[in-house]
Amino acid sequence: MPPTCPPCGSGLPALCYPARLKPLLLALLLAAPSGPFVLPLSNGLYLVLDETLHVRRVSPTASQASADLKAWTTGRDIYTSLCSRCHGADGSDRSYASGNVKPINGLGRRYSEDELLERTERPGTVDLGNLDARLRHALAVYVSGL
Ligand code: HEC
Repeated sequence: MPPTCPPCGSGLPALCYPARLKPLLLALLLAAPSGPFVLPLSNGLYLVLDETLHVRRVSPTASQASADLKAWTTGRDIYTSLCSRCHGADGSDRSYASGNVKPINGLGRRYSEDELLERTERPGTVDLGNLDARLRHALAVYVSGL
């Protein structure tokens, strides 16, 4: 039996709230972030979360977190336009080159950002020559959070 809400018998607790609370609930729903956002933790660290609540980055300070958030968002755009057709939206696609591409998600736990960029360029499948240092950093931040 799904839990029901005694006063109204509806399975949806939100429907049971008194009418005066409904605008508040609506406001909360609207305030929920629709893009990536920073979540401060009680231990002093900051999480950069995407809109599906996946942790993409752990940052040591608030200002670092907001810089990381910007970089991650820019990096996502770059990844989407230059990389996802071979590596998939989340880096796990192996189908390119008859299934010979290793997944690239999770590499951020093993490699530094410079190493990630170096490994990206090594196979010669993509040209990062048009990216300046800021955009290269953004791409590395995004790939390290895959
Ligand atoms: C044309 C298809 C293609 C595109 C586009 C592409 N890659 Fe790759 N990538 C490959 C292939 C093929 C390899 C080498 C095979 C392997 O290591 O599995 C590779 C390897 C890598 C590696 C090294 C993996 C490892 O384990 O060392 C990284 C990191 C990577 N790519 C990131 C990227 C990023 C970031 C982009 C976008 C800027 C990108 N790739 C664009 C096909 C592509």
